Amino acid sequence: MDTVENRFSLAFKQITRTANSILPFRKMVNSIAASTAKALQAAGCAIMVLNPQREHLDIIGAFGLSDVYLRKGAINARKSYPEILDGKTVAVADIFSDKRTQYPEYAAQEKLTSLMGAPIVQKGEVIGEIRIYNREKRSFKPIEKDFLTTVANLVGLAMERNELSQYLNAHHETNITQHKKLTSFSRLPLIPIRPINFGHPSEEEFARLLDFYQVEWLYEPRSFPLSWDNSRITEMFTPDFYLPEISLYIEVTTSRQSLITEKNRKLRRLKELYPDINIKLLNKGDYLKLFAKYGFIPLDDNKMAGVQKMLFNRTQIQRRVKSLAKQVSRDYHGKDLILIGILKGVVCFMSDLMQNISIPVSVDFMAISTPANNADPSIKITKDLDIDIKNKDVLMVEDIVDTGMTLNYVLNYLLDRKPASLKVCTLLDKSARRLINVPLEYVGYEIPDKFVVGYGLDFSGKYRNLPFIGILE
Ligand code: IMP
Ligand code: MG
Repeated sequence: MDTVENRFSLAFKQITRTANSILPFRKMVNSIAASTAKALQAAGCAIMVLNPQREHLDIIGAFGLSDVYLRKGAINARKSYPEILDGKTVAVADIFSDKRTQYPEYAAQEKLTSLMGAPIVQKGEVIGEIRIYNREKRSFKPIEKDFLTTVANLVGLAMERNELSQYLNAHHETNITQHKKLTSFSRLPLIPIRPINFGHPSEEEFARLLDFYQVEWLYEPRSFPLSWDNSRITEMFTPDFYLPEISLYIEVTTSRQSLITEKNRKLRRLKELYPDINIKLLNKGDYLKLFAKYGFIPLDDNKMAGVQKMLFNRTQIQRRVKSLAKQVSRDYHGKDLILIGILKGVVCFMSDLMQNISIPVSVDFMAISTPANNADPSIKITKDLDIDIKNKDVLMVEDIVDTGMTLNYVLNYLLDRKPASLKVCTLLDKSARRLINVPLEYVGYEIPDKFVVGYGLDFSGKYRNLPFIGILE
């Protein structure tokens, strides 16, 4: 019998079996979307995840929606039903009378009228959404909202399981030429809906360059209608790339002059119709200028010889450091804060962190002997603190915590000086190699067991001046 109970129970059976299977992740997510849509008698379903900057939602799996709809472009997370990202399940009976709808023209073409969305939560944090769509106006019953909320939780679990296996397989990591890589192990890598077939070798080359510099990109994410015959679209333009970090569409040009003229015409039309869209036509020579402008500086080969790939680019680091500084400023409001760093690795991080802290702070540095320049194998303080930390709130600022031995030694040394409190803020946490468990209050990024350089971190004294963090070969 086709009752709500039967449909829901069948769906849970299918979803839990799929989530627990060895299906490739993309297939798993598509299958969950299909089961969910059918159970709720919906026309379509999309499963989306937030990018690490939490600015937009990318579709990682779907059912019942057309290609044009799926490629409509990244959804602005703050504009499109933001309550879902606050953890609420939201029902929209009529998409067109709702101001939070971001792409009404696409919804119209797809003949979608109502929707319901639920947050995908992992470790207490919303990391994405599942949405179902209907052709008719529809209000949803509490039991249907509960169903979608539960499916969202199952998707969260399935993602965590997938992340775990990715983590375990991390050193088998092959060349992922897809549009998103792991940048942090607390985030899910985006899996594109279909493998990417680049239209031209220059596009693939450009994608590889973006990958090296860890600039996030989407290939042909959205088609813009350019002309209509009544309500039928007669001409569309699909830019090659979208760079969500800088909200920029990019059309990579070839050298054929006849094509450039045609593209320029389309681009002019696009700008007339969509004045808010930021788009650039790029030829190969322009790439490098663009990178320089946004801080992804193409460095000369000498400076970065041996750096295999970028882990965090300058923009990403700056964003993360700002957010750490904000937390520190909030937590130490009204207190007498002293930041202490160990030379030299911490210089870049300390410099950026302190400039973004909004409360008064003092700063001091220590230096310790390293095994390489010390005949005596025991660790020694070679430069002590200049200021007295007794009864002060001390925040130890570290570039990277690896085994935890250095930090453990220094923390014990500082505790003898009786500070009022002592906590740790580290930019990088290589937790896989921890031998001594030191409490880390603030962590910028958890990183895999790879040797990293740049942004102050060195290998034999070199690479500290790279403006990004990269993995050494
Ligand atoms: P620990 O005592 O093993 O935690 O090591 C911490 C120190 O080792 C850091 O302050 C760095 O100087 C150095 N270190 C550990 N891992 C790396 C790395 O991947 N790149 C550069 N330096 C590192
Ligand atoms: Mg250090």
